[in-house]
Amino acid sequence: MLKINENYLKLQASYLFSDIAKRVAAFQEANPATDVIKLGIGDVTKALPAACVTAFHDAVDEMAADSSFRGYGPEQGYPFLREAIAKNDFQARGAEIEADEIFVSDGAKCDTGNIQELFSVDAQIAIPDPVYPVYLDTNVMAGRTGIFADGRYEGLVYLDSTKENNYVPELPTEPVDLIYLCFPNNPTGSTATKEQLKSWVDYARENKALILFDAAYEAFIRDDALPHSIYEIDGAREVAIEFRSFSKNAGFTGTRCAYTVVPKECMAYDSSGNKQAVHPLWNRRHCTKFNGVSYPVQRAAEAVYSRQGREQIKELVGYYLTNADLIAREIGKLGFSYAGGDNSPYIWIFGNQDSWEFFDMLLNKAGVVCTPGAGFGKCGQGYIRLSAFNSHENVERAMARIKKALS
Ligand code: MLT
Repeated sequence: MLKINENYLKLQASYLFSDIAKRVAAFQEANPATDVIKLGIGDVTKALPAACVTAFHDAVDEMAADSSFRGYGPEQGYPFLREAIAKNDFQARGAEIEADEIFVSDGAKCDTGNIQELFSVDAQIAIPDPVYPVYLDTNVMAGRTGIFADGRYEGLVYLDSTKENNYVPELPTEPVDLIYLCFPNNPTGSTATKEQLKSWVDYARENKALILFDAAYEAFIRDDALPHSIYEIDGAREVAIEFRSFSKNAGFTGTRCAYTVVPKECMAYDSSGNKQAVHPLWNRRHCTKFNGVSYPVQRAAEAVYSRQGREQIKELVGYYLTNADLIAREIGKLGFSYAGGDNSPYIWIFGNQDSWEFFDMLLNKAGVVCTPGAGFGKCGQGYIRLSAFNSHENVERAMARIKKALS
């Protein structure tokens, strides 16, 4: 008799964004005349930057001729892309990262979900609340938690991110092994200073812990004092893995390209207490379970770092940040307290009512989709998240409708 992995039975009914999509589809079926505006999932709406499109086309043409055709590429990514990433995203900011520490993949969602496989099932996990559900669910699937009770899984250390701490959690008071952090944060839009990140790096070094740092939204940082990478902090090479994505800066949500940085100094420990480097283990996993991102997509991603690519990306991110400014301004005028929106595409709004009720009200009365904060964790109850990823016109219309619905 085949037995299933019972950890899957501990999961909440469905993945947050699938749940929302189902509710929106049901609403749309019942109200076919309503033109629903989606400010829910952080999915980009504008076309790929022209530099990426040209590189993409050229690479497809290469694939069309026997002489330039490419079959399987290196699992870790082509050297041209790994070198461009190391030089532009890290070395240019004074962070010592080499090309062979970059692992190109098809998404930060997959990488942040898969990385936990490298660590023992009894590792003590520290996870922010609210949080991008992938970090949590993949640890549940792996069996690192008990049951879900009273809005939380047993066996985890939750790091509360609340208004009181500006949505930047304090260090845990009990020892933890693996710490998930995301800045600029999804869902709260909060950012962490160099000093705050340093305290986490110091904690990890003192406790032989490892930080999994999700920097998928770094391109939205406008404040020059804020760090874009955890490797801007001294000592982080020993204790941090960083995840990046081309989804939100270059519009690759449907094109799929991301990368994970695993510095060679990053260590975990075997049962005898001996140091084991994480880099060769991630490399082993990557080569076994992944066959690389397609050549044309990697060429398109490389174009992000060309002169034109850089200018176009700045414009694209600026476009969404203008939406974020508008949402934040209008939400503020309506008297809600909120966070984010200045260095982030997300605006985290305290609605002072049940998150799902607020979600239903906005959908029914305004035809606007948000993300209910409770879907990101217990501390998200009472909040909703609005995303700036839509056209200016739609964001303006959505805010006018929300104003009307609430007045
Ligand atoms: C979100 O809306 O939180 C993100 O789009 C999810 C993701 O990037 O997978």
